[in-house]
Amino acid sequence: MSTTENRGQFGSKLGFILSAAGSAVGLGNIWKFPGKAYFCGGGAFLIVYLIIVALIGTTVMMAEFTVGRKTHKNAVGAMRELNSKWSWVGGLGVLTGFIILCYYCQVGGWAIKYIVAYITDVQTVWADPTAYFLNNLLGADGTFPVQGAVIYPFIFLALTAYIISHGTAGIEKMSTILMPVLFIMLIGLMIRACTLPGADEGLAYMLHVDFSTINGVAILTALGQAFFSLSLGMGVMMTYASYLSNEDNLVSNTAIVCTLDTMVALFAGFMIIPAVFATGIAPGMGGGFGFATLAGVFMAIPGGQFVGMLFYFLLFFAAITSSTSILEGTIAFLVEEKGVARKKALVVTSVIIFIVGVLYTLSQAHMNLKGIWLSGSGVTFPIFGDFLEYLTDRLLLPAGAFFTTLFVGWVWGTENSIQEATSNGKFKFSLAPIYKVIVKFLDPIAIGAIIVAGMVFDMAIS
Ligand code: PFF
Repeated sequence: MSTTENRGQFGSKLGFILSAAGSAVGLGNIWKFPGKAYFCGGGAFLIVYLIIVALIGTTVMMAEFTVGRKTHKNAVGAMRELNSKWSWVGGLGVLTGFIILCYYCQVGGWAIKYIVAYITDVQTVWADPTAYFLNNLLGADGTFPVQGAVIYPFIFLALTAYIISHGTAGIEKMSTILMPVLFIMLIGLMIRACTLPGADEGLAYMLHVDFSTINGVAILTALGQAFFSLSLGMGVMMTYASYLSNEDNLVSNTAIVCTLDTMVALFAGFMIIPAVFATGIAPGMGGGFGFATLAGVFMAIPGGQFVGMLFYFLLFFAAITSSTSILEGTIAFLVEEKGVARKKALVVTSVIIFIVGVLYTLSQAHMNLKGIWLSGSGVTFPIFGDFLEYLTDRLLLPAGAFFTTLFVGWVWGTENSIQEATSNGKFKFSLAPIYKVIVKFLDPIAIGAIIVAGMVFDMAIS
């Protein structure tokens, strides 16, 4: 087992903020959020989401940051150090990260595939965007989707592993370059979308607040989305904060990371929904949204090839700064707890993730298309794809956050957490009394309710 001396550390405050924001800003913001905002009622959903981030998201993030920074250990080691009976919560997080990465890398690979397609052969994508998506990524035409399931996800995963092989320095360097670029591109795309003729209807939809659209489904959806989007519930923020110096202010870092992540989600919403309204393309949910629906949108706007290419670069940048954080959570665990060499841990983990990821894409093909090509081989994975997402978004992420807040609220103690957040009182935290109450009561109750309601009513939109 290695000690803390040979662990990496973020080189600067900005490096940490951009890396943590890089983890938070991902496919969840750009690909999932706009669709959910659209289907859950526009403006009213935005308000519910903002309230949830402000109350629950920030407090769970700060709880994770303080546990990680206090111990300077990976999620399992951190929980063990503070109370040996709770190390399994860290283990649950590592497992969740591993599962998420299996499908995250596939979608990240699809983003690279679309960058290439937009540069080299956009007419083929536009000839029939839905068929292009289904055939090339999922194998709907009966051919094995070698590019969508194997080659591009492999490239994405290899890039992720390469960055992680350089430790915190690799993560920090990537994030300091990609995050500002991502912001600028996003603002540019948002302005482009909002100035399209007819975009004002989409803007009006996003700004119109009608609380009658807010029901249990919308609230559960907003809660689940907030966890996923802020990278909470799987020890990733714990691991990142473990690489932070004791002199950094965790109160302001929490506020900045949550604000950046939420701004990106809102910008993405104000980019995609106005564009969808302006072009009259009916939005779909799920995997097809970012690829099939938006291809129709890009096709319909002037300069769409360039705009589309920029968009997929944006999606790719967002995805890779998140996938590296998830992989780092797993690798830090294997290196520090199991004594595996970093390179070996990377190779073995990546190979397993790759194989499960390929099965994920293939199972989507099977599910969407009644197993057109899998049926011939006699091999089927009937519920594999949906099962992974259900398991992580509905169960494992909220469960990880639930146990983390129980742990911080009732076992380690909010007082210790506040001491850590403020570096023993060096920094101001005027909302500390509110933090205490939320972590002890509101977080476990609200999160426990999501888990139960999500399972019993099967109703959140994923
Ligand atoms: N926050 C990322 C997104 O919005 O796409 C996904 C994610 C990254 C979830 C890291 C969880 C995590 F630990």
